[in-house]
Amino acid sequence: MTTTAGPDPERLRSRAVAALTTARERTAALTDCVDERELTSQHSPLMSPLVWDLAHIGNQEELWLLRAVGGRDALRPEIDSVYDAFQHPRAERPALPLLPPAEARTYVADVRGRVLDLLSTAPLHGTPLVTAAFAFGMIAQHEQQHDETMLITHQLRQGPAALAAPEPPPAAPDAGLLPPEVRVEGGPFTMGTSTEPWALDNERPAHIRVVPPFFIDTLPVSNGAYLRFVEDGGYEDRRWWHPEGWEQVRAHRLRAPLFWRREGTGWVRRRFGTVEPVPPDEPVLHVGWYEAAAYAAWAGRRLPTEEEWEKAARHDPASGRSRRYPWGDADPTPEHANLGQRHLRPAPVGAYAAGASPLGVRQLIGDVWEWTASDFLPYPGFRAFPYREYSEVFFGPAYKVLRGGSFAVDPVACRGTFRNWDLPVRRQIFAGFRTARDAEPF
Ligand code: AVJ
Ligand code: FE
Repeated sequence: MTTTAGPDPERLRSRAVAALTTARERTAALTDCVDERELTSQHSPLMSPLVWDLAHIGNQEELWLLRAVGGRDALRPEIDSVYDAFQHPRAERPALPLLPPAEARTYVADVRGRVLDLLSTAPLHGTPLVTAAFAFGMIAQHEQQHDETMLITHQLRQGPAALAAPEPPPAAPDAGLLPPEVRVEGGPFTMGTSTEPWALDNERPAHIRVVPPFFIDTLPVSNGAYLRFVEDGGYEDRRWWHPEGWEQVRAHRLRAPLFWRREGTGWVRRRFGTVEPVPPDEPVLHVGWYEAAAYAAWAGRRLPTEEEWEKAARHDPASGRSRRYPWGDADPTPEHANLGQRHLRPAPVGAYAAGASPLGVRQLIGDVWEWTASDFLPYPGFRAFPYREYSEVFFGPAYKVLRGGSFAVDPVACRGTFRNWDLPVRRQIFAGFRTARDAEPF
């Protein structure tokens, strides 16, 4: 192998096949467990019918792999506009002429068969789209992102559980021994990446940021801690809230995270069709950005900025390098982080000692997405690739950045550099947070 050829193409091909196959098994699990009526109905105006996500997954795969990479003609040109997310907001999608479930399944299987043929022979160098099998990795990530979206639809759906209950996540035996926060020294670190082969456009390029010193929570904020804010009247006290957050609290009479309900003297929550007491040691989940920021203000703290989060997650003070993950450069295993819909719930705060950062910060990857203080903005030198509608059209102050991935995210779509974003009012996503505060320079 010559140095200009990059990584071994056969390894890239088998990696891409594995990533696509894992995604399709998950898509099938999420769509085979409900009947036709449930696949085609809308469970929340915030979400698409599951059968829209299914055919959209296949349509994007066809557009980017069969057509853009393979140069093939459209298999069903008439359906492109139905599955274009920008032509139809989610609330409109149930009224579209959607492929019925059986046809949608046939379509995605047909596309996938042709993609696997293409992948076995396509050159993996020459253009940025195919170098290191980027487009194949991008499409595996796209399918996994919709698998998380479909899991959110399952959470919003009414009625008895459809998903099988998986094994519980690991415990947190030494949680009580950990310091509540760690100090991250001020100074430069490398943010973003120019070398991660399947990193998406908004993670690029790598660049230096100088970050003042700060303290960050060792663990995500737990339900028990959040409950103290609730019980202290946090949702009734305007002082803690951003003006728009206070509007949301009043307009929708918010009193607690989404899916929580008071029962007697305590709280219960519904998750995937099962009602259970709120577990105090789990990371708080289903809070919007305004709730996260209000809790932080009540606690005398603030949300970390995006660059603080990434420095806490990637910077190794001993070497000065930025790692791919908090624990190092190795791909995630079940010892490192709660990813991949393996447990369908977050692990208790303090779990995953093997996934800690060099400074001992835990659960940065997996469990719950973490809201940051930051707006979703391009890095210096950003270039939209391969399409503006992935990131660029969302840049600006309307969207807040989330980091780290949730239990619903697959490892293929999760890295120390990975950026997610959503509106600050959104609560149905698998999001929690941790807090931070300024530190005095030494
Ligand atoms: C990156 C999760 C905000 O779901 O809207 C899926 C990912 N982009 N299809 C979204 C995405 C196009 C995106 N998020
Ligand atoms: Fe999409």
